[in-house]
Amino acid sequence: MKIKNIAVLFSGNGSNMENLYLKLHNKTFGDIKIDFKIAISSRKDAYGITRCANLGLKCEVLASKENKENYDLKLLEILKPYDIDLVILAGFMRILSDDFINIYKTINIHPSILPLFKGANGILESYKSDMKIAGVSVHYVNNELDSGELIEQDVIKKIDGEDLQSFENRIHALEYEIYPKAVLKVLL
Ligand code: GRF
Repeated sequence: MKIKNIAVLFSGNGSNMENLYLKLHNKTFGDIKIDFKIAISSRKDAYGITRCANLGLKCEVLASKENKENYDLKLLEILKPYDIDLVILAGFMRILSDDFINIYKTINIHPSILPLFKGANGILESYKSDMKIAGVSVHYVNNELDSGELIEQDVIKKIDGEDLQSFENRIHALEYEIYPKAVLKVLL
């Protein structure tokens, strides 16, 4: 049995972090067992911090406004003791430096069919677009925004007249389905 140690980085609500933790933490898949060691929030007021407390997942806040190289050195310091196998971004609103991604295999989820609608407004832009489908992508992280090799992607059909809230709920539901699958694909 191999233990795979996970770190999760987030900046806000933390619902993907919580979903991943509930579905994967302390669970065994084939010959691996997954251990969520630590979460890091880039914002001190992120609701995800409360979720971590409720789940019993150790959470550190690293909210400094430094450039990415200096910020990432601090991230690396925090992660150092945990022998992390995979870093999972779950709504982490920063671009990581080469120094970081050269050390840790890192993955991210984005609420659109990449490479379409990169950036912070992926859901709204998908909703407003003329496309008949929308979706979710999980990808390896490189030093560009929402880029890097795709790991998983899935789509929903748009519904005529659907309001933004309902559309957003369906996108998040799809995220909760595919992100755990993608993590297992990367680890197994
Ligand atoms: C998700 O929509 C994710 O795809 C994007 O940021 C959002 C984070 O939501 N990268 P939450 O904090 O997991 O609720």
